[in-house]
Amino acid sequence: MIALSLAEIAAVVGGQTHDIPDPSVQVTGPVVRDSREAVPGSLFVAFVGERVDGHDFAAAVVAAGAVAVLASRPVGVPAIVVEDVQAALGALARHVVDRLGATLVALTGSAGKTSTKDLIAQVLGAKAPTVFTPGSLNNEIGLPLTALSATEETRFLVLEMGARGIGHIRYLTGLTPPKVGLVLNVGSAHIGEFGGREQIAQAKGEMVESLPAAEDGGAAILNADDPLVRAMASRTKAKVVLFGESDEADVRAENVRLTDSGQPAFRLHTPSGASDVTMRLYGEHHVSNALAAAAVAHELGMSATEIATALSEAGSLSRWRMEVTERPDGVTVVNDAYNANPESMRAALRALVAMGKGRRTWAVLGEMAELGDEALAEHDAVGRLAVRLNVSKLVAVGGREASWLQLGAYNEGSWGEESVHVSDAQAAIDLLRSELRPGDVVLVKASRSVGLEAVATALLETAAEGEVAGR
Ligand SMILES: Nc1ncnc2c1ncn2[C@@H]1O[C@H](COP(=O)(O)OP(=O)(O)OP(=O)(O)O)[C@@H](O)[C@H]1O
Ligand SMILES: [Mg+2]
Repeated sequence: MIALSLAEIAAVVGGQTHDIPDPSVQVTGPVVRDSREAVPGSLFVAFVGERVDGHDFAAAVVAAGAVAVLASRPVGVPAIVVEDVQAALGALARHVVDRLGATLVALTGSAGKTSTKDLIAQVLGAKAPTVFTPGSLNNEIGLPLTALSATEETRFLVLEMGARGIGHIRYLTGLTPPKVGLVLNVGSAHIGEFGGREQIAQAKGEMVESLPAAEDGGAAILNADDPLVRAMASRTKAKVVLFGESDEADVRAENVRLTDSGQPAFRLHTPSGASDVTMRLYGEHHVSNALAAAAVAHELGMSATEIATALSEAGSLSRWRMEVTERPDGVTVVNDAYNANPESMRAALRALVAMGKGRRTWAVLGEMAELGDEALAEHDAVGRLAVRLNVSKLVAVGGREASWLQLGAYNEGSWGEESVHVSDAQAAIDLLRSELRPGDVVLVKASRSVGLEAVATALLETAAEGEVAGR
């Protein structure tokens, strides 16, 4: 964090200082909520969780060098005591970003936030020092903690914002007001909690409502191919920049294709020039993510060539998103077990088929959670798509939803053992261990709650054991 004295922090958050002999002492290190991350100069934020009370670690973090604790009660070591720790953390983040010289970029959407945030961070990072959300820490606590990790050197601060209801994005943009705001898509993620797509659009659109006017530099980056996102143009005073395949888009891709290894390649068009991109990431869905990142970077002064170079170099920064591993025996494992929704299932199946040209392809799929009333139709559709794309083998893993997947495949014309339904990850592991042959490509994908990463892990362990045994 930028250096601030305890007195200053107390004033910003409206807190009382306790057990602080010298309020002019400065916090110079990171602001942390995990006591194990406390280092000299830190400020430790004590939350009361369901199982753990952060206040219990106050003495330990101070022993580790933390300057003070942001707490909701005195703890016997230096503390700034407030009524509401979360609100105090938010106020501190707002104070700090207002003082920083950094340009704030925020993004939201139903699918691809983390992937796109990682792309934006790598593209902008090629130009100037950039701080960005680690992983998916996109909520009311992760967001301010990320913002507080920026320093005087930071030029770009890239923030992922998540929402599970109306008002959530508005709250987050209030903590860290973006100058450039991006909305990726309105899909079906968390549709059960929201109540419907219109409500999701209403909630995500709070992003563009928060932006400064065009004359003050505000820019709304919107997906031209998603009607509900495109329509958000009427909800903002900021300049509107469109990305996508549509002719209307300011930032477009031409000649989009997947290489034989499943990596997208295309010609990037921006209002100021064009340049060729071949990505290191897997799957067609990254084209849209890359265009979104390109639109942000172009708006912030990067040329098409600079953007294309950075997009072509960008790697995967967050785990289990189309993580491709080659086993020594020639089996390729694609671990996309982090998350699943209908859009990403379709993209992943297409990538599997592109990578698996001339090889046997396996789709090991589980439930897509939180689809509400659409669950049956969406699982059925994914099962059918697997057959239409000619995936060699579908293994549907889990309960009712998995049976819908398998039934969709069956009804689309898969027969015999082309599609099977197994009850859990262990059953899938057993099946794959006995059936996989060198050269096969296996995609593993489901919602996080299904825990299918165990399948990918087991497949990779099998290979490692084989390697040791063969030595
Ligand atoms: N543009 C896209 N459209 C559809 N699916 C996508 C897109 N980009 C990434 N995905 C897929 O969606 C899943 C989630 O990706 P990612 O973690 O980037 O999304 P997210 O929006 O950050 O998710 P979360 O809400 O969990 O934070 C992954 O399986 C990924 O492969
Ligand atoms: Mg995320």
